[in-house]
Amino acid sequence: MARILKDYPSVALNAEDLDGKIDFVQIFGRPGLVHIEIGSGKATFLLHQAMTQPQVNFLGIERSGKFYRYAVDRIGRWALSNVRLIRTDAARFLADFLPDSSVECFHIYFPDPWPKKRHHKRRFFCLANLEQLLRCLIPTGTIRIATDHASYFEQIQRVLTAQDHRLEEIEFLPTASANQGEWVGTNFERKYLKEQRPIYTIAVMKT
Ligand SMILES: C[S@@+](CC[C@H](N)C(=O)[O-])C[C@H]1O[C@@H](n2cnc3c(N)ncnc32)[C@H](O)[C@@H]1O
Repeated sequence: MARILKDYPSVALNAEDLDGKIDFVQIFGRPGLVHIEIGSGKATFLLHQAMTQPQVNFLGIERSGKFYRYAVDRIGRWALSNVRLIRTDAARFLADFLPDSSVECFHIYFPDPWPKKRHHKRRFFCLANLEQLLRCLIPTGTIRIATDHASYFEQIQRVLTAQDHRLEEIEFLPTASANQGEWVGTNFERKYLKEQRPIYTIAVMKT
């Protein structure tokens, strides 16, 4: 039987209600460091990480309505007060609504690889989006990326290298919520580990 998904207005941000740069203190009802997951899927990472870091405010950006609704229901059932979710395109959201120097960490785990060459331009990790990520990071803020896709990982490294005067590579440590043998503990990582695919990770800090 299909799971009945509930809407939780305290979790779900409505993209249509946004007008100009957002105010995280207002959104979370408290000050605090902000972490954003881009392409949060079913919110497995957000759910577990938000429990291990209750002092951090987490925002998940997810474009797919199906995953977004599942994630809202899931976070709402757990009554986590430090997670918000928005259904929108991350590139547009960053450019239009994220203030400068407002985010401590961007988590980008298993972004859609768009393997066909003619689709590479759809990949999220490109120079224009890196520019936005850097604008929105606080000084010493970090970007953490994991993928199973070797060619996308090469693109990610090339894009980061083009901005290496503004970045420093740091060690990619497993997230606090990851299980033994995992880097980040997302659904896609679990699926790919079962298939014994290699996982590529990189973390950089804004200097
Ligand atoms: C391969 S899934 C990975 C989900 C999750 N991070 C994980 O590791 O299990 C990629 C997710 O990113 C979402 N996505 C892709 N492009 C996006 C964009 N531009 N803005 C927001 N979400 C996006 C997709 O809808 C999908 O849920």
